Amino acid sequence: MPEESYIHASKVIPSEKIVHLRGWIYRIRKMKDKIFVVLRDASGIVQCIGSEDQLKPEAWNALNEATIENAIHVEGNPVEDNRAVNNVEIRLTDFKLIHKGEIFPVAKDQSKEFILNNTHLFLRSYKSTNVWKVKANVLRAAREWFFENDFYETTPPILTGAACEGGSTLFSIKYFGETAYLSQSIQLYLEALIYSLEKVYAITPSFRAEKMRTKRHINEFWHIEGEEAWIDFEGNMKIQEELVAYIVQYVLEHNKTELKELGRDVSTLETIKAPFKKINYKEAVDTLNENGFNLKWDEDIKTEEERALSNIIGEPFFVRDYPSSHKPFYVKLHEDDPKWCFSADLMAPEGFGEIITGGQREDVLDTLIRRIQEEGWKVEDYSWYIDLRKYGSVPHSGFGLGAERLTWWLCGLDAIQETLPFPRTRNRIYP
Ligand code: 4AD
Ligand code: MG
Repeated sequence: MPEESYIHASKVIPSEKIVHLRGWIYRIRKMKDKIFVVLRDASGIVQCIGSEDQLKPEAWNALNEATIENAIHVEGNPVEDNRAVNNVEIRLTDFKLIHKGEIFPVAKDQSKEFILNNTHLFLRSYKSTNVWKVKANVLRAAREWFFENDFYETTPPILTGAACEGGSTLFSIKYFGETAYLSQSIQLYLEALIYSLEKVYAITPSFRAEKMRTKRHINEFWHIEGEEAWIDFEGNMKIQEELVAYIVQYVLEHNKTELKELGRDVSTLETIKAPFKKINYKEAVDTLNENGFNLKWDEDIKTEEERALSNIIGEPFFVRDYPSSHKPFYVKLHEDDPKWCFSADLMAPEGFGEIITGGQREDVLDTLIRRIQEEGWKVEDYSWYIDLRKYGSVPHSGFGLGAERLTWWLCGLDAIQETLPFPRTRNRIYP
């Protein structure tokens, strides 16, 4: 049958016309002379009913043989039925088993271990499908925003010769007799590209050899990174808040059904618009201390504190002007007091915490070299990067947004691992 003859489950409405659908069996209930089968496809589900007296024997036999997740073609009359999803049910006039296969091993209430070993099958689940749809729109909306704002998409390398975000999370690999690393962030390469295109971005996988298993860390994630020439710290935060507000609005508009099915209360998301609140690091520490913490001015705001702050503030906010000792070599130091630097983290509310780190880049050559040395790196490994400060250096800033962190928050999921079809964690590279 030609492609265009098939319609999707969510498009079925009561009508006189016969419809054709193809998909997989989501549920099936067999009675003596009637069989209810719920067909699932990328768009959703639709209930079908087959009766022995309405079907040819081959079709009735196929329906009797069918089990969960078999691939099927159905043909029938869509009639109104307010007990069914979307108030429509298809009365089958034909049914074909395209692939019967084996008994599907996935059922309710299986152990976490079983689910993780079978993620290639679980990714068809209703919940997962909703998350993939939200994530697709996160990436789409990001690209749209960059396009509308005259950023060029670029393709920096993922195999690199030097670290960007510190040695403790570096994955090293053999590279023809040398050591190379998997990219933690393509920032340094984007910084080179601004001299050609001024406003650039890239969406690439980033890798972090995080030792601990947490609900907010994965070893491979999709990184949405932007870099802009002639933009300072303040201008950079403006770009981030507009981008994030755009993505939030886009998802609210285009993923109503998915968010509802995920049980997401969208009331906080609905209030989000740029500009976002900004507090400096000192204020963040004070706020925490007023709420039962006992932090020193330069102590690291760790996961627990970050979650608390995100709950207290209740809207997206930047924590700006971090202690320089907390941030990598490339962050620009305050000229008047180098104890502080031009780095900010954008925090999502509702306990989710950091989704972006960004800031202005160090453009004072000597300071940059000193900071590279202080982190214990070989200056020659960064000589190409240092060159960028020698030939027409300009003030510039950028940021990195974790697509999974954002999707995790937007969907209101328990753990970030649920935002990837094949999450890479310390104990898992299979499937
Ligand atoms: O804060 P990070 O490490 O900053 C950078 O990599 C900068 N070089 C980005 C830049 O300026 N171009 O990472 C940026 C974002 C985090 O805010 C978080 O959203 C995400 O990347 N991220 C992770 N997401 C999931 N699992 C992990 N292990 C992550 N590490 C970072
Ligand atoms: Mg960060």
